[in-house]
Amino acid sequence: MNQQVPFTDLNAMTAEIRPAVRAAWDRLLDEGQFIGGRAVEQFERSWAQYCGTSHAVGVANGTDALQLTLMALGVGPGDEVVVPTNTFVATAEAVVLAGARPRFADVSPYTLQLTPETVEAAVTPRTRAVIVVHLYGQTADMDRICRFADGAGLTVVEDAAQAHGATWRGRRAGSIGAAGCFSFYPGKNLGAFGDAGAVVTSDPDLADRLLCLRDHGRATGSHHEHVAVGMNSRLDAVQAVVLSAKLARLDAWNEARRAVAARYAEAFEYGPVRLVEETPGTRGVYHLAVVRVPHRDLVQRRMAALGVQTGVHYPVPCHEQEGMRRYATRPLPVAELAAREVLSLPVFPHMGEEHVLRVCKALAEVLGSGGPDDG
Ligand SMILES: Cc1ncc(COP(=O)(O)O)c(C=O)c1O
Repeated sequence: MNQQVPFTDLNAMTAEIRPAVRAAWDRLLDEGQFIGGRAVEQFERSWAQYCGTSHAVGVANGTDALQLTLMALGVGPGDEVVVPTNTFVATAEAVVLAGARPRFADVSPYTLQLTPETVEAAVTPRTRAVIVVHLYGQTADMDRICRFADGAGLTVVEDAAQAHGATWRGRRAGSIGAAGCFSFYPGKNLGAFGDAGAVVTSDPDLADRLLCLRDHGRATGSHHEHVAVGMNSRLDAVQAVVLSAKLARLDAWNEARRAVAARYAEAFEYGPVRLVEETPGTRGVYHLAVVRVPHRDLVQRRMAALGVQTGVHYPVPCHEQEGMRRYATRPLPVAELAAREVLSLPVFPHMGEEHVLRVCKALAEVLGSGGPDDG
């Protein structure tokens, strides 16, 4: 009972796939092809199929996925890209690395996702694209955002680093805009045993440019001809086989996360808090289960004292980060308030009912109202 409730637990997931990964690594050691090759191509095919796109291009991490996508779209110096300010800083960082300027946008107070209205408020004549972040594993209202972007001549890029398997009206996160960018950082819903990422798209020309740019600008089929200035951002085979093994479990793991979130929603029906809302039309995958509380830092400390680990995503909006402040143009009050209030509760596929109950009771105790009935 006094055991800590961890924020996440990767070990239980690793245990499920350990035999498959060991066998696949043995095959790799025999084959000796560690960059590209069969294992990478196989994962790229499976990931594209899973996402409902014609192409997936494996890259080194999620930040590169975003930067390479912008480069492949021809977005660079002189251009601006709208990004939500309440995201992991990598979303904005990728824009700067591509040579463009981030334009920070506010979000819906209910879902904390971008909306067409908050995007519109950030657009200038120099804006070329918008990166929609599907925050916490939910999605933004993609129909309305894409309609607005079409009208304004903006390309929509999806940052689906937290939304592997989430759907918007039946379509997978990442498959709706021009391209969808994924991180497979170990803690993600689909996580590697190190850094890894991918871009999915159904535009064959964009896929070709991505293949070229991720590999030093090499011309297709050539070793010594470099037709562009690219990067070294290849997915390695050692990670690809881990991702293939985990992909077979992704839907089940996402369902388990949804079940934990549903238990929280049920327990909090009459207080003391609510989960941040899903956009109607989303089937979220609860990379994070986030509530909003006053005096968040104090609540977090008291939860820790009761043995419950929590997280904060994110305590400082991007436009207030020192490295990004020069791109800040105006206050973004919804995101600024959310940064002071958001608290991420433990959620992971193998989380047991007793842990869920302990989180609910600790939160109720800390916030000073009745806890859920633990029967
Ligand atoms: C929303 C978002 N975008 C981008 C990234 C960057 O991914 P990576 O750490 O793989 O570069 C992350 C994850 O860390 C993320 O959560």
